[in-house]
Amino acid sequence: MHTTADPCVLVIFGASGDLTSRKLIPAMYEMACAGTLPERTAILGISRTDMTDEAWRDALEPWAREHASGFEPETWRRFAQRIHYYSASATDPAAYGPLRDRIEALAEAHSIPPNILFYLSVAPNLYEPIVQQIDAAGLVAEGRRWCSLDRDAATWQRIIVEKPLGYDLDSADALNRVLGRVFEEDAIYRIDHYLGKEIVQGLTAFRFANSIFEPIWNHRYVDHVQITAAETVGVGHRAKYYDTSGAIRDMIQSHLLQVLALVAMEPPTSYNAYRIRQEKVKILDAIAPADPTRLSQALALGQYAGDGEEVAYHENPNVAEGTKTETFAAARFTFDNWRWAGTPFFLRTGKRMAAKRTEIVVQFKPPAVNLFRELDAFAGDASLSPNQVIIEVAPRAHVSIRFQGKVPGATMRLDTVEMDFDYAERLDATFVEAYGPLIIDAMRGDQTLFPHRYEIEAAWRAVMPFLGPTSAGLRRSIAGNYAPGSWGPATADDLLGPGRVWHNGAADLAPAPAVSV
Ligand code: BG6
Repeated sequence: MHTTADPCVLVIFGASGDLTSRKLIPAMYEMACAGTLPERTAILGISRTDMTDEAWRDALEPWAREHASGFEPETWRRFAQRIHYYSASATDPAAYGPLRDRIEALAEAHSIPPNILFYLSVAPNLYEPIVQQIDAAGLVAEGRRWCSLDRDAATWQRIIVEKPLGYDLDSADALNRVLGRVFEEDAIYRIDHYLGKEIVQGLTAFRFANSIFEPIWNHRYVDHVQITAAETVGVGHRAKYYDTSGAIRDMIQSHLLQVLALVAMEPPTSYNAYRIRQEKVKILDAIAPADPTRLSQALALGQYAGDGEEVAYHENPNVAEGTKTETFAAARFTFDNWRWAGTPFFLRTGKRMAAKRTEIVVQFKPPAVNLFRELDAFAGDASLSPNQVIIEVAPRAHVSIRFQGKVPGATMRLDTVEMDFDYAERLDATFVEAYGPLIIDAMRGDQTLFPHRYEIEAAWRAVMPFLGPTSAGLRRSIAGNYAPGSWGPATADDLLGPGRVWHNGAADLAPAPAVSV
């Protein structure tokens, strides 16, 4: 692994897609502004639309203006000179000879060693034909040169693949085999943009660069963990894709189980991709399989109803009639391991919910004895509010610790107080699009933030009971079972079990009732 990124030709399949314009190019531009993108990088977009380099650059500019932080016309102009376009169908074998020539010519023109980073930003059914053609065109050199410029044994060819990585365990396995036939595992970068979020990476520092949290980070002290990714938007123009996916495949199998792995894994023995990914595989493998005969104790599903803003999900013209695809899911995961046995992790995600909020809440067990219980002469409920570590991933990058404090005064009154740490305020951080640093990592050959094949497969294994026929009963009457602007269906509350409530952000930031004596 290098500490600086190697110059390369970044070849993006799916150049005219939404992800490329909205995320990838603005992210690369941000990296160029930050001086992180090697000067000699070239970007080559491939799509069927007939366009010149110039036309593609012009089409991308408004996206960069809107989505990149700190747009500056002159910097964009210089960056855009490195963007190129090749009009071709990715499934056409005849397109790959000229593609090879084009990459070689770009490498020569920009004085780049012929390293290639392929980025598949296309529908998953195109992964296999594209990878096969890349291979057939000799673009992946294995002990041989792929072009006349390739004189250096240290040149590389790597591939980044977008989610969804499969539709279920079998198709994920098949996809991994397809990739593995052409690329070594250390050349495959499965991108999960949640792992590029600043505070998600910060989790490793929070847990392992401190000594005060780790001793209590286990089933003896932690009552349960909540991981929520709530969105206010509906499925919008993605309805067709989304209807084949649903919240479990779209968010839980990928992003939220990745976050869970970072919260729950054992400390790695060193900070490197191999060790960290090894621990993530272990913890994902330790998830206890949900019992299909008692699925309602492990899963709550929902579909948003309609309002003046957007039709109910099941009435969207682009979804199947009578669709049972969930736009909300809350799932309970438990582990068969010594650290977490008996401590559930609740993962929740949904569209059209009350707030855009992504967070992790670690809730601790109550003190062994409530000293203040007997003294509570006046307040009906003398239970202490739970201690919580709340790690907000979005919209703020923020950590708070909630505990009980004494209200100043002559009487003994308790109230819930918070200690806060805001990343942006405290560390003067500028937040960039998560894709940027991840792509730079791929150029550096650092796989720390990219899930290993076994992580993907373990995550599929964990959610399989929630998909397919076993979940049919829970899907039967989901149409419109939660109101837009709410926190999902009531069944999600039941899932937590007695005495536990979902942390719903600002709504429950109001102090818990004081215990007074
Ligand atoms: C994507 C999902 O991977 O993540 C989308 O496909 C979802 O449905 C998005 O909206 C959420 O990402 P973020 O970064 O906005 O939380």
